[in-house]
Amino acid sequence: MPKSEFWKNIKNNHKENEPFFSLAPMEAVTDTVFRRVVDKATAPDLFYTEFVNSTSIIHEKAKFSAAHRLYVDKDEKTPIVQMWGKDPEHFRKSALELKKQGFQAIDLNMGCPDPTVVKNGGGSGLIKEFDNAAAIIQATKEAGLPVSVKTRLGFNTIDDYKEWVPHLLKQDIEVLTIHLRSRKEMSKVDAHYEVIDEIIKMRDEIAPNTLIQVNGDIKSREQGMELYRQHPGIDGIMIGRGVFENPFVFDENQDHSQEEMFDLFKMQLDLYDDYIENIGKKRFETLRRFFKIYVRNLPNAAQYRDQLMQTHTTQEARDIIKQVERDMAEMKDQEEAV
Ligand SMILES: Cc1cc2nc3c(=O)[nH]c(=O)nc-3n(C[C@H](O)[C@H](O)[C@H](O)COP(=O)(O)O)c2cc1C
Repeated sequence: MPKSEFWKNIKNNHKENEPFFSLAPMEAVTDTVFRRVVDKATAPDLFYTEFVNSTSIIHEKAKFSAAHRLYVDKDEKTPIVQMWGKDPEHFRKSALELKKQGFQAIDLNMGCPDPTVVKNGGGSGLIKEFDNAAAIIQATKEAGLPVSVKTRLGFNTIDDYKEWVPHLLKQDIEVLTIHLRSRKEMSKVDAHYEVIDEIIKMRDEIAPNTLIQVNGDIKSREQGMELYRQHPGIDGIMIGRGVFENPFVFDENQDHSQEEMFDLFKMQLDLYDDYIENIGKKRFETLRRFFKIYVRNLPNAAQYRDQLMQTHTTQEARDIIKQVERDMAEMKDQEEAV
């Protein structure tokens, strides 16, 4: 059982014989707007922020950019903040700041493969820096918030996990989330589910209180449940890109209409406008990349997607939705007339 109340609640507050489910942290995706859209579709047990640089949280000149990533709406469940960086002292100070701001848990990014992040000694670069990874975990813990780690199996080879995972487990963390690939593999090969049992065995031997969450290529709640049934020692399932194929990915019931899909789309447009009006800037391109989610099941998906990708305002996107709704109504009338 985990030590903190936060993780005890997560572990206990879902159905028996099921893992908890989370939406993976995703840069420029899991901001306040999209988290609320997924929450409306079907909430997972947990949300994470996009990763936030531990230095910018406490740096006078960079605080502004961090504040956007840390923005949480009053109507949202508080997400876990994911931080990245390389300096333990910055993590210590940032963790104190996050606690002051009311956050309840912190996740440490030790898996990001981005060359700039790695070059700066952060993300998956820490897989080669055992001592610094341990120092970062201990420094972050000083604020008193529960600390978890998200990582990959290894840097150059998946076999790195044989030393890396025990090293992390010895740091007494609340949760270890593993994206089941090496850094080198990026997302180009299938996730290595074959090592799950070995990882669970390591956890049982070294740190029985640490929860294990697995991640990589899980595209539906059912697939997550199947993985759990095959490896019952898993505590949590994290889903990332699956949400682009299906915003209702966390739902047991998969019977959702196009109307529901468009309701989510309209909600996202409204929340985006609201954010721009009341909180700050966001580039429209970052919104546009979501549009394909909402038309992918339609007969003329490619055509609608292309039209949506050429929009520059939320109003233009709304006009296209209206057009699609008219097209669908016409098609239905024609079918009924036959
Ligand atoms: C657009 C995008 C942004 C991502 N940003 C982050 C991030 O900020 N922090 C992180 O730990 N992982 C990040 N990831 C990795 C995901 O959290 C996840 O580990 C990965 O996509 C594999 O899971 P999946 O197959 O379910 O998508 C990102 C992935 C994508 C596709």
